[in-house]
Amino acid sequence: MATFAFFDTKPYDIPGFEKYSKGTDIQFRFYETKLCADTVSLAEGCDGVVVFVNDTVDKTVIDKLYDMGVRLIALRCAGFNNVDTASSFEKIHIVRVPAYSPYAVAEHAMAMLLCSIRRIHKAFNRTREFNFSLQGLCGFDLHGKTVGVVGTGKIGRVFADICRGFGMNVIAYDPYPAKDVWFEYASLDELLSRSDIISLHCPLTAETQHIINAESIAKMKKGAVIINTSRGQLIDTDALIDGIKNKTVGAACLDVYEEESDIFFEDYSGHIMQDDTLARLVSMPNVILTSHQGFLTTDALENIAKVTVENIQCFLEGKDLQNEVCYHCGKGEICRKNRLGKCF
Ligand code: NAI
Repeated sequence: MATFAFFDTKPYDIPGFEKYSKGTDIQFRFYETKLCADTVSLAEGCDGVVVFVNDTVDKTVIDKLYDMGVRLIALRCAGFNNVDTASSFEKIHIVRVPAYSPYAVAEHAMAMLLCSIRRIHKAFNRTREFNFSLQGLCGFDLHGKTVGVVGTGKIGRVFADICRGFGMNVIAYDPYPAKDVWFEYASLDELLSRSDIISLHCPLTAETQHIINAESIAKMKKGAVIINTSRGQLIDTDALIDGIKNKTVGAACLDVYEEESDIFFEDYSGHIMQDDTLARLVSMPNVILTSHQGFLTTDALENIAKVTVENIQCFLEGKDLQNEVCYHCGKGEICRKNRLGKCF
């Protein structure tokens, strides 16, 4: 039996993983705590770890895992910016779930956009108190507006399709443009200056960190709406707050936040919020914040559990690791995935 330490477990994770591991040689040790240098010893005696977006998988953790005999890090998410892929190379294989439901995230982005621009969050609170006034609830039509999609991978393209259904004009920026698309590509600067709505669907990398900053906000149309369902660090939050205060940014729909790792997924309703920036954002009437819930649909949870268990099985059986990632994937000879079926 191979044992995997499952970090940052939430009640909704367990049924799917128990279902798909039933009858296999895999057993999970579910831990509520996140993986970090202080908790890594919980993986003692395990063959691998299963981690999520806010677990810390840096060099210290990787070295410790390696010394303990751990040889697989199974991410139950698509993004892998929280893993030091260079430190794990030739030591611990990293697998992920590249696509569990692009629809879940793209639909959440649209849900937040509609909620924001039609003031549904305000109306909901009002009618619960029998306040049926419409004062201050005037929105605008999406039809005919221009949406700029930054990153046209799986999620960005589904979001673009949804926007097309609303009769919007879609423009996109991606340094690696797709060929078979119906929308028009533009430079990032052009996208910033032409878009009424800007939605981020690119991964967090050194190039995309703070892709939305004071400079890029200054290039936007007055009143532009920003949607971020990708990673918090794509946006310089202080610059965003300044942009909202000076009304360049008309509204922000955020499913992710730069400093979310110690806050999101937990209930702090009975506490004094110590993060002043987050408190400021939440207090703004034109900011809608959800706590990284874009992925959270039954369909996506099912796919996450299924693909993660399949990834682990492939590893245990010595098969090709199609969902492996390394710091050199696709960049040349160091990654041996094309030849070996594994990155190393
Ligand atoms: P993907 O890998 O299919 O697409 C990413 C796209 O971004 C690619 O087309 C790539 O060329 C492009 N890109 C790379 N560098 C860029 C740059 N500098 N500027 C603009 N575009 C760039 O990824 P997918 O599945 O569409 O996911 C996108 C992101 O969504 C993930 O990286 C992850 O951070 C986030 N995500 C958020 C979830 C949530 O619950 N809120 C759940 C799943 C993913």
